[in-house]
Amino acid sequence: MRVLFVCLGNICRSPTAEGVFRRQLDEAGLADAVAVDSCGIGPWHVGKAPDPRAQAAARRRGVDLSGLRARQLDDEDFYRFDYLLAMDHDNLTAIEARRPPDSDAVVTLFLEYAGHPDRAVPDPYFGGEQGFEEVLDLIEAASRGLIVTLRDRLGEGAP
Ligand code: 4NP
Repeated sequence: MRVLFVCLGNICRSPTAEGVFRRQLDEAGLADAVAVDSCGIGPWHVGKAPDPRAQAAARRRGVDLSGLRARQLDDEDFYRFDYLLAMDHDNLTAIEARRPPDSDAVVTLFLEYAGHPDRAVPDPYFGGEQGFEEVLDLIEAASRGLIVTLRDRLGEGAP
């Protein structure tokens, strides 16, 4: 199973989701069953490490984002990944506009897995520290829900 998190710049929300979700997969014993990556819609930050504010906030919760580097959404991603999970409605619109008709990937808002089918992870880039904490809270909740869904799909549900 392969999961791709998508935001606008790939330096705040989606790398945070990649790091948090990867850690939860480790804790759930699913690290070998699920591959994780993240990317951005826009080109501005390609090759850069996550925003220092995102790195610091994640580090306070024990998640290291320092090794990640931004990249842009690629046409091949629609075939490489089973899930393309958007952080907000603009990201979702941009992904759907590029989606080839023969891609089988699930394309949806990430917070659907936190029980919020129409809610976005707010863009923290132009705001303060609190925005990064809210991003982490939302991403941790949605990651827990996504683990439950993937566990069901992988046929490894609790006995
Ligand atoms: P992200 O945040 O989409 O969560 O990575 C942003 C990063 C950069 C910009 C916007 C949002 N920007 O306009 O450069």
